[in-house]
Amino acid sequence: MKRILPLLMLAALVCTSAFLAVQTVMAQDTITKLAPAAFGKLTRPPAVFNHDKHNEKAKLEECVVCHHGGADGKQDKTASTEGTPCSDCHKVKPAGKATSLQRAYHKQCIACHRAKGKGPLACGQCHVR
Ligand code: HEC
Ligand code: HEC
Ligand code: HEC
Ligand code: HEC
Repeated sequence: MKRILPLLMLAALVCTSAFLAVQTVMAQDTITKLAPAAFGKLTRPPAVFNHDKHNEKAKLEECVVCHHGGADGKQDKTASTEGTPCSDCHKVKPAGKATSLQRAYHKQCIACHRAKGKGPLACGQCHVR
């Protein structure tokens, strides 16, 4: 037990720091690029998206504009879900007519840029090498 105790304490420390590292990555003010794990290996460079700076510049105060809710095939534009990854509800290969993860991002990002006449529309402007 004398030898095992320090090892256990070390293991606990490693687990705590790994947990804290994940927490930092998930905070919106540290997001500068999007590379959701759900895609696996990306075929394009990760899309640039500096979360807080982008939303400040674009004057988007309402989180629900992007973080909507919904279930059973019905979107709920009034239920705010910030903190829930898009991939929790949008699958890479969904069953039936559901919006795929790639389409969810493309539709949301590009539709707004088009509507506002501001923000990138071309592949290489978001998927910056
Ligand atoms: C222009 C769209 C947009 C707006 C507006 C927006 N977000 Fe986000 N936010 C995102 C995207 C995209 C992600 C990455 C989530 C993902 O890819 O699964 C994200 C991630 C997050 C995350 C990290 C956890 C997660 O979901 O992965 C938090 C927390 C968050 N946003 C909070 C907020 C809050 C609070 C507001 C309002 C003040 C807000 N967001 C407004 C698009 C937006
Ligand atoms: C709590 C579940 C949930 C979360 C989280 C969620 N969605 Fe959705 N979303 C839905 C449902 C349900 C629908 C309607 C069915 C469908 O199209 O698959 C939908 C529809 C959509 C649509 C198609 C309708 C439209 O507005 O044009 C887009 C685009 C979309 N979501 C983008 C996103 C993005 C981007 C994120 C992350 C920032 C996100 N969604 C997070 C549940 C969710
Ligand atoms: C509801 C509207 C809206 C949505 C949704 C939105 N954008 Fe934007 N975006 C804007 C506006 C408006 C600008 C221009 C801001 C300015 O320069 O005045 C912009 C600018 C940008 C820029 C240029 C650099 C910057 O940060 O200003 C990038 C890159 C960008 N958007 C990426 C994205 C991505 C990726 C998504 C999807 C995850 C997204 N946007 C979703 C409105 C939106
Ligand atoms: C407004 C920004 C924006 C534009 C413009 C855009 N994308 Fe994306 N794209 C995204 C976001 C956000 C994701 C999800 C996060 C990621 O993969 O970086 C994504 C995901 C993808 C994915 C799935 C992930 C991967 O890398 O395999 C592919 C493929 C893709 N985009 C190709 C394209 C192509 C081709 C174009 C031009 C026709 C394009 N995109 C234009 C923002 C954009």
